[in-house]
Amino acid sequence: MTYQIGILGGTGPAGRGLAIRLASAGYRVIIGGRDAERSVAVALGLVPRGSGTINGGSNEDAAAAEVVVVATPWDSAVDTVKSAKVLLEGKVVISMVNALQKEGRELVPMYPPRGSMAAQIAFALPLSRIAGAFHHLPASDMENLDSGINADVIIFGDDVDARRVTMEITNAITGLRAIEAGSMSLASPVEAFTAVCISINIRHKAHTYVRLAGMPDA
Ligand SMILES: NC(=O)c1ccc[n+]([C@@H]2O[C@H](COP(=O)([O-])OP(=O)(O)OC[C@H]3O[C@@H](n4cnc5c(N)ncnc54)[C@H](OP(=O)(O)O)[C@@H]3O)[C@@H](O)[C@H]2O)c1
Repeated sequence: MTYQIGILGGTGPAGRGLAIRLASAGYRVIIGGRDAERSVAVALGLVPRGSGTINGGSNEDAAAAEVVVVATPWDSAVDTVKSAKVLLEGKVVISMVNALQKEGRELVPMYPPRGSMAAQIAFALPLSRIAGAFHHLPASDMENLDSGINADVIIFGDDVDARRVTMEITNAITGLRAIEAGSMSLASPVEAFTAVCISINIRHKAHTYVRLAGMPDA
């Protein structure tokens, strides 16, 4: 099934990278932002390879899609989803948000009151179905369709159907393999591990991504 997928804060590197990969997999994507005109301009600059499309609009336009990804900075994610709460009711909402802070040459994880950003978003959207995914993907390698990225995406959440939809979308993207991890209780370590990935990238001038050894063939 080719869902229409909205991305809140989709004008940033993370949203752009996901948008171009999703559209290249055939999805109809709407990247949202606070300034709809700017989002339209950003969308025009993204050229997918495939049958999908990328349009720009407001965050409300993106929230009106069938499946919605949250790709804003951590400190604006809850306010952004709250402002679209009614539009998001009953929908699968995927958080890729990491709460991180730069300290010297490292990124350090921060722990929101409920332990993770996905849990904060789930608390703000009690009538939506929340999953977490895409936390460790380097945006530049996602946006560059020639990067050869071959990454695993760790997927978690308490809603089985949200996990299933997120797995389906992830596995449709060239270069990604979905790994179902489990419940929302895993959100905190998954999000925090992003600090390790980015700190390694800074230290080694690298573009690392996560690839788990030992998974049985699908
Ligand atoms: N960058 C990566 O490689 C990567 C990879 C995986 C996950 N992530 C996560 O994905 C999220 C986005 O990352 P990013 O690097 O794309 O971040 P970003 O560029 O800082 O922000 C993304 C978009 O969020 C919107 N935004 C910024 N400040 C806002 C505010 N105060 N209120 C509402 N919207 C605001 C902006 O869009 P408008 O100005 O158009 O509204 C911006 O283009 C983060 O939580 C990050 O941890 C990032």
